[in-house]
Amino acid sequence: MSRLLDVSGLQAGYGQMPVLHGIDIHVDAGEAIGLFGPNGHGKTTLLRAVSGLLRVSAGTITFDGRDITRAKPSDIVAAGLVHAQQGNTLFGDMGVEETLELAAFNRRARTGWRDRMAEVHSLFPRLAERRRQSARTLSGGERQMLSIGCALMCNPRLLILDEPTLGLSPRLKGELRDAIAAIAERGIPLIVVEQDVEFLLALSSRLYLVEQGEVVNEIDKANAPDHQEIMDMYFGEGAR
Ligand SMILES: Nc1ncnc2c1ncn2[C@@H]1O[C@H](COP(=O)(O)OP(=O)(O)OP(=O)(O)O)[C@@H](O)[C@H]1O
Ligand SMILES: [Mg+2]
Repeated sequence: MSRLLDVSGLQAGYGQMPVLHGIDIHVDAGEAIGLFGPNGHGKTTLLRAVSGLLRVSAGTITFDGRDITRAKPSDIVAAGLVHAQQGNTLFGDMGVEETLELAAFNRRARTGWRDRMAEVHSLFPRLAERRRQSARTLSGGERQMLSIGCALMCNPRLLILDEPTLGLSPRLKGELRDAIAAIAERGIPLIVVEQDVEFLLALSSRLYLVEQGEVVNEIDKANAPDHQEIMDMYFGEGAR
């Protein structure tokens, strides 16, 4: 299987504070992978470095054979690596549909954008119902849907989702998870951060456990560790 994303020896941080201490992860063509780990241990930092939003201090990032380690975020999106960021991205007074249309601004995204809009509406019927509503007035869950919808409008070849269901009610969480599973079934490669390991395991072929800025474990679903084994890995066996 060909390699779509290869991250090697990645180091990054904020100011003088290092956060990532040499991360190696990869995504193969057609694959969904999951990242999990304790709060504040560098998952979002890793994703921001990969999508060019944070400067990399050492290591390399290769996307589809091309070195993107120091590429501009807009060029990375144009290449098809699209990051739906954690939390509420700011949305303005534009309508939901307008916001989605505007997201498809680069050349690869522009081709076939109407079909993609129809797909986004079928994945998230709530966005279709609220197409004329201003994006600013959406609920937290609907904003998250819009954020993923905008990422899909960019025609991603690899889609990064950072805690897409954080803070949502169980019902909305379920709706979003079904949509994410449907995106994976359509064959769009994914990197998903989630705390719910069971959901991640159902979605992904491999999981990485990130702790203190390092990958401390890689779990291959083919080796079928059960949920309890993963929780032991995560919390230590004393957590039973
Ligand atoms: N903009 C920033 N400036 C300075 N430090 C930051 C900034 N963003 C994150 N950090 C710090 O970097 C470390 C890693 O944070 P990061 O957001 O990557 O963790 P995370 O694993 O995504 O956590 P969570 O599960 O809570 O989302 C934390 O110590 C955090 O305080
Ligand atoms: Mg995070």
